[in-house]
Amino acid sequence: MTARAPAKINLGLRVGAPGSDGYHPLATVYQAIALYDEVKARPSPDGTITVAVTGEGRDVVPLDQTNLAVRAAEMLANRFAVHSGVALSIHKTIAVAGGLAGGSADAAGALLACDALWGTNATRDELVTLATSLGSDVPFCLTGGMAVGTGRGEQLTSVLARGTYEWVLAFADTGLSTPAVYAEYDRLGPDHDANAPAPVVSEPLMTALRSGDPYAVGRALHNDLQRAALRLRPALRHTLALGDELKALGTLISGSGPTCVFLAADEDHAVDIAVGLASSGTCRLVQRASGPVHGARLVT
Ligand code: C5P
Repeated sequence: MTARAPAKINLGLRVGAPGSDGYHPLATVYQAIALYDEVKARPSPDGTITVAVTGEGRDVVPLDQTNLAVRAAEMLANRFAVHSGVALSIHKTIAVAGGLAGGSADAAGALLACDALWGTNATRDELVTLATSLGSDVPFCLTGGMAVGTGRGEQLTSVLARGTYEWVLAFADTGLSTPAVYAEYDRLGPDHDANAPAPVVSEPLMTALRSGDPYAVGRALHNDLQRAALRLRPALRHTLALGDELKALGTLISGSGPTCVFLAADEDHAVDIAVGLASSGTCRLVQRASGPVHGARLVT
């Protein structure tokens, strides 16, 4: 059984003061983009749960119990008392620790592929409940499209938005740890206290998305974690600055970074931006992806 699951970008990300559990309340606008990891689930010869990884970042993905796809399979097996095991193999296209929810996409793909392999027939709600306990972005990787995420990012409300958006993504040499970026965000001392109201999504961004005007969307992109990511990886400023030179409609770091995303006016413009970035030497790899796209799905 094979599932494909998309990367996400955050078109807007507002972060509140951390709660007693250390998590930060968020108000984010997710978009799933056409950059997919593929997760295959095959019967396990000895009843164990294993994973093999190929593709983007294969050398840095853990292959033990900390792998999020392995944890997803274990959680589904426990929930439905399955003892057959599974041999997972993941082909990655999404950068690891890139702020694109690559690990979460693998977990969402593993839930679907294992559900099909084992015949557990979990309902959508059961899968979303499991996804929520795996990580803040996993429910969105299951549902895809566009959604507002609140709570830790896992409470989703779909967004009525027009249009398809052409993005160019610049991958950095190495990833950034999400907890480290949140810790830096706290260290920089954002101007909110523990009693501050929960963050809300930006109205200009929602209005722009309803209009489908990429120029307005480009102007409304924002990310509260960007300053912290730039403090940890100052060289990203050069990559972002190229966005202005290449006339990107909007430029930002996705999630906790370090992937930089650039919004293009159309496909031709996206090619121009991609070529300009690739020849700049400021990033390891440039990819194009449009969005929104559907969430994780079985492909066989
Ligand atoms: O939920 P997930 O496991 O993806 O989160 C990874 C880490 O990111 C958390 O351990 C926490 O440090 C940070 N985080 C946070 N607030 C959120 C989401 C994640 O502080 N809303």
